Amino acid sequence: MNPAAGVTLSADEQVARIFAWRRGFNAMHLIDLGIRLGLFKALAEHPGQTEAELAAALGLHAPYVQVWCTTAYSLELLEADERDGFRLAPHVDGMLANEAHPRYLGGYVRLGTEFATDDYRRAAVAFHTGAVTPYQGRSREFAQAVTQAIAGVNVMVARKILPGLSGLAERLRAGGRLLEVGCGTGFMQLQLARAFPQARLTGVDIDPTGLDAARAAVRAAGLDERIDILEGDVGRVVPAASFDLVLMVEVLHEIDPALRADVVAACARALVPGGWLVIVDETYPSTLDQARQAPYRFALQTGLEELMWGNVVPTREEQERLLRGAGFDGPIERSLFGEGFTLLVAQRAA
Ligand SMILES: C[S@@+](CC[C@H](N)C(=O)[O-])C[C@H]1O[C@@H](n2cnc3c(N)ncnc32)[C@H](O)[C@@H]1O
Repeated sequence: MNPAAGVTLSADEQVARIFAWRRGFNAMHLIDLGIRLGLFKALAEHPGQTEAELAAALGLHAPYVQVWCTTAYSLELLEADERDGFRLAPHVDGMLANEAHPRYLGGYVRLGTEFATDDYRRAAVAFHTGAVTPYQGRSREFAQAVTQAIAGVNVMVARKILPGLSGLAERLRAGGRLLEVGCGTGFMQLQLARAFPQARLTGVDIDPTGLDAARAAVRAAGLDERIDILEGDVGRVVPAASFDLVLMVEVLHEIDPALRADVVAACARALVPGGWLVIVDETYPSTLDQARQAPYRFALQTGLEELMWGNVVPTREEQERLLRGAGFDGPIERSLFGEGFTLLVAQRAA
């Protein structure tokens, strides 16, 4: 019995669902290969190639490329016609062939095909021992893949969400100060510097691997004068009552649950009176009934995929307890966007 839908699935329906998920697994590997072998890029640069031309251009085994093209066509990632050969289906260019595009999904695919499969290989043992391999210090490639996986969310927050928060956007445009907790490899710092050219920015994280990349990115962009990158606990390395905005994107569920109250309280202390805390994260279902509802799908997927990173996705009740505990007594604005991200906005009392 499916309590959410109120219907019982037949055996045939269950079989069809499992086959569909298995096809999804293959589709991820097909996309991963298309990115790694340069097939999507080659078709973006020269649309209208036969399998043989594509194989020759990339130095690949033609019969394998033929199967890849036919399968990608069946998945509607490619279009084709008898005369001109294969080309990318609409929108696939930005999503799978252009790393700089805000909708690029290559990093997200790679997190599944490369890093999650490593974790799943260790999972059977970990389910006995509870072992975790934390995010911090995994590798530079891992930190970069995570950055790429959520780059689109960061672009949206910097270009659309923050500029739309009235009062806050004006302060940042007038030279306000912004602290990003969990800045990772620094991608968001560069987006924010562009979106608010007058603002002064600080990024803090506890992961030295990501921070090395962040410092290099800031230096390469010539933004050393405007951006400080700090390593350590936000409660220790950041001065109190100094920032108009404290921002966390996809960080709350990464913080050790035992430390969350201290970190959120430190974020509150870092704000000037009247300053804003903006959190973008995911919300885990609080009940089994919610576990079958669409807005929780993405958080459930994260909860499983990041189990062995040691991550626990917070429920709405935990998010609110953390904010109230840190002294945010006023309204907490909550909304959903994208594939299942929660936006929380709270303001420190003036
Ligand atoms: C999923 S990554 C997100 C990085 C970046 N915000 C982004 O959107 O690309 C989570 C980051 O939170 C950092 N983090 C976890 N616990 C933290 C803590 N207590 N203080 C600061 N950063 C923390 C991790 O090291 C990691 O860089």
